[in-house]
Amino acid sequence: MRKWRFAAGLLFVLLGILLFSGCGRQTAAPDKVYVGVACYNESDVFIGELIDCLKEELNGLSGDGMETMVTIRDAAGSQRTQNDQVKALIDEGSNVLCINLVDRADPSEIIDLARENDVPVIFFNREPVAEDMMQWEKLYYVGAKAKQSGVMQGELAAELIHSDRRVDRNRDGKIQYVVLEGEPGHQDSIIRTENAVDTLKNNGIELEKLSYGIANWNRAQAQNRMMQMIGQHSNEIELVLANNDDMALGAIDAYAKLNITESAFPVFFGIDGTDAGLRAVMDGKLAGTVYNDKEGQAAAMARLAVSLVSGSVPEDLEFENGRYIYLPYYKVTIANAEEFLDKAGK
Ligand code: GAL
Ligand code: CA
Repeated sequence: MRKWRFAAGLLFVLLGILLFSGCGRQTAAPDKVYVGVACYNESDVFIGELIDCLKEELNGLSGDGMETMVTIRDAAGSQRTQNDQVKALIDEGSNVLCINLVDRADPSEIIDLARENDVPVIFFNREPVAEDMMQWEKLYYVGAKAKQSGVMQGELAAELIHSDRRVDRNRDGKIQYVVLEGEPGHQDSIIRTENAVDTLKNNGIELEKLSYGIANWNRAQAQNRMMQMIGQHSNEIELVLANNDDMALGAIDAYAKLNITESAFPVFFGIDGTDAGLRAVMDGKLAGTVYNDKEGQAAAMARLAVSLVSGSVPEDLEFENGRYIYLPYYKVTIANAEEFLDKAGK
């Protein structure tokens, strides 16, 4: 009996020591989350809007004994610049990094820097290849699935073509179309195009591809490419599928610049639901877009960043393969565009 009492007492003392010693302190949340954000190009409209959301989300998590600070660096399209910026962000004290790679196939230098300094990394929007994600266990990705956005764009276009016979302007039973593509090598370019086209075909639409142009997500480049395509195919084009809203808007700019009457315009579809994209849907200029949930992505990144520093991952963050978070896309037409603009607080 006395032996038992002694053992119980000893256990109690040991527990006490554990609780009040270093072990206890290690699990307590550090109160400073210094987030270093590196983006490929802040002049990219969607990225600019996503970064604004991220700042807002992180600021919202400040308080309650927690301090969040954000530093943002823009690589303006150079991977080498981004590598230097990441080094500086770490030297300046970032304890978690959010990285929007310039070259999604070239993250090794950043991963090495992060690992040497034990700073976890959340890649976003430009998805590293799976092999690179295996280089270290503190690498995460937040984004969306390119395939889903392509399928939704195809469904939106198919719905319109089925319901409005005027889309087939020359009444030949086929839809003559062109594609405006984002950066070559980006996971969202080829996959969006392929899935939009396949979905149209699966929905019984006969298609004829007239041309395509690469415009790197950019409105001005898309305007140029579109002017060339209009030069080659003049009034034959019935449908413009753009890999993002800015390029769809650039295509509309081209028609306006050439003074083509609106009644002779093809129909345009984008992806993203940027502020300008949503407004164009509300104005009836863009037939539809697919919402790339920047608020959802920013919220997931902000919460993950805080939890990686404090050491406790919230249970409701849903991971795929342990370290990927994908937010769903949503279809947008004139019927619901305003709701999305409201969601963005505009
Ligand atoms: C895509 C987005 C594009 C562009 C690109 C940059 O997800 O739809 O508009 O921002 O990311 O990586
Ligand atoms: Ca036709």
